[in-house]
Amino acid sequence: MARIIGTGSYLPKRVMTNKEMEEYVDTTDEWIVARTGIRERHLSDGQENTGDLGYIAALAALENAGVKAEEVDYILVATTTPHSLVPNTSSYIQDKLGASNASCLDLNAACTGFIYGLEVAEGLLKSDHINHILVIGSEVLSKITDFTDRSTCVLFGDGAGAAVLAKGNGIRGIISGADGTKGACLHTRDFPVNNLIEKGSTAPQLIHMDGKEVYKFAVNILPEALKAAVLRGKGDLEELDHIVPHQANIRIIEAASKRLSISMDKFYVNIQNTGNTSSASIAIALDELNRSGKLENGHQLALVGFGGGLTYGAVYLEWNI
Ligand code: ACO
Repeated sequence: MARIIGTGSYLPKRVMTNKEMEEYVDTTDEWIVARTGIRERHLSDGQENTGDLGYIAALAALENAGVKAEEVDYILVATTTPHSLVPNTSSYIQDKLGASNASCLDLNAACTGFIYGLEVAEGLLKSDHINHILVIGSEVLSKITDFTDRSTCVLFGDGAGAAVLAKGNGIRGIISGADGTKGACLHTRDFPVNNLIEKGSTAPQLIHMDGKEVYKFAVNILPEALKAAVLRGKGDLEELDHIVPHQANIRIIEAASKRLSISMDKFYVNIQNTGNTSSASIAIALDELNRSGKLENGHQLALVGFGGGLTYGAVYLEWNI
């Protein structure tokens, strides 16, 4: 039994509008808004790295939960763009928070990372000795975005979101999964074996995406994952008060709304201001919803994500903060 007891988020100060994007690639504000719903995204200033964004989001979540850093038993950081490979981003954040009693683990399930993090946290909270877990989604996607590729660079943004989990009634059903056969639809280059010895190359790891294939996967899996999580939690789709989907493309969210016959009013949407922040996206949206005053104890929520892997997952919960 696990529940979310606090949330936080952070978006870097620098805002890049679609108009500004026009200076980098052959695109227009009209195309980006019509095809994706995105109007602007926040980007790191080049100084703030993944752990710095995640730290600020985590601090806000701890304050919201009324939990001290020393009371955190585990820090799980979902990220596709780690602060460094070693130490992991989680340890970096542990140090900044002074959360000296926490174990530290990074996980990567691309845009589904925060959902996978919640699933792992829910399992860990079954242990007697674990009482508080910080689940953080943090990304500086601008580190791996190809700003010469108009089909991907207009989509992504940087940001971080976090949630504190504790034992108690809240999460009712979780599902997750992956289709590794579709890995090539959204990928960076493989880490080369013996690359440095044999080739001397340090080529950057930029994202490549077959947008159409990911789109087809997403419009199908988003409603299916959501239904499966609610079913697992013995809930009813019609009784959901809020749905917090991964913010990848407004058209994907609208298609899910139609397919599920659930009004768009119930879907929390902030993609216009954030773009796709991968692992951070659902966590940021959840924090904004929490702080909007529209979320009340007893409300039923579904969080749902999909992304590189291709991975997917959904959490059905009752808000009990
Ligand atoms: N500006 C102007 N034109 C563009 C741009 C752009 N930024 N990008 C592509 N185009 C052009 C294409 O070249 C193409 O031109 P052509 O017809 O002359 O060949 C035309 O626009 C249509 O391109 P499509 O790829 O068919 O556009 P589509 O409507 O499919 O939208 C998009 C592309 C937005 C990428 C969409 O496919 C999508 O959202 N896919 C899902 C992406 C996603 O959800 N990713 C989530 C996971 S992210 C993660 O895990 C990190």
